[in-house]
Amino acid sequence: MDIIRSVSEMQQRATSARVAGKIISFVPTMGFLHQGHLSLLEAGRKRGDLLVLSIFVNPTQFGQGEDFEDYPRDLQQDSQLAQEAGVDIIFIPEAAEMYPTGYATYIDVEGITDNLCGSSRPGHFRGVCTVVSKLFNIVQPQVAIFGNKDFQQLAVIKRMTLDMNIQVEVLGLPIFRESDGLAMSSRNVYLTPEQRSQALVLSQSLARAKQLVSAGKTDCAAIISQLTNDINKKPDARIDYVQICHQKTLADQDDVDVDSVLLLAVYIGKTRLIDNGFLVIKHD
Ligand code: PAF
Repeated sequence: MDIIRSVSEMQQRATSARVAGKIISFVPTMGFLHQGHLSLLEAGRKRGDLLVLSIFVNPTQFGQGEDFEDYPRDLQQDSQLAQEAGVDIIFIPEAAEMYPTGYATYIDVEGITDNLCGSSRPGHFRGVCTVVSKLFNIVQPQVAIFGNKDFQQLAVIKRMTLDMNIQVEVLGLPIFRESDGLAMSSRNVYLTPEQRSQALVLSQSLARAKQLVSAGKTDCAAIISQLTNDINKKPDARIDYVQICHQKTLADQDDVDVDSVLLLAVYIGKTRLIDNGFLVIKHD
């Protein structure tokens, strides 16, 4: 496994791999790897000949007062996990090379960024799309793999690659959960044991909503009100949003249908956690 820090070296390796007819699979991350990331790497290993993992805590996707400085970092542990997962190259660029003095180009995806995290974290998706498009240009993957936990991020990246004619297949993989249901996230490490137990309210809300829908309740406002009440009972919980949206447009819905996704962002103490799930169980 090689560790590459320079953009030009990464581009040269990617170009040579492409010329040799290799499929490059790519897992972009901000590091502090957990089981969820490892499931993406496992899929990447199967899909490509050259598996590239990037680790870059991207400053442009964090707003003022967010956790950019505190975001957990552990390159030594990440390198070990990456090696075990069969990664060929870890790309760890420097912020100064990604955004040199005079840097002036950003990508804005309209419409599906208006709601949810797009409205509660202004500028977040502009930063995500900018860095992901830059990483795609540097790593030149044929396939890129993301987690479904960031449901809106995945939809936005798919929209961007389509609109910008970027030749990469964007794959989303299921949310990886702890055995008690908590969605895996690098930010879970911030939680105290007491907060960790209150954080279960996100996955419990998903289960509760599915239960209500299967019992015949389809009024989104009524479901959201019930969940809001439950979440507000947790002393350290503060709701950012609880919304039921159409899976493609991410617009709010009035009634649940097969395209409905429940999306939640809840602060537990200072830690902002997200989760999501479809509400109608699909039978093939
Ligand atoms: O999901 C993440 O970890 C980040 O938003 C991403 C896609 C690596 C871009 O910085």
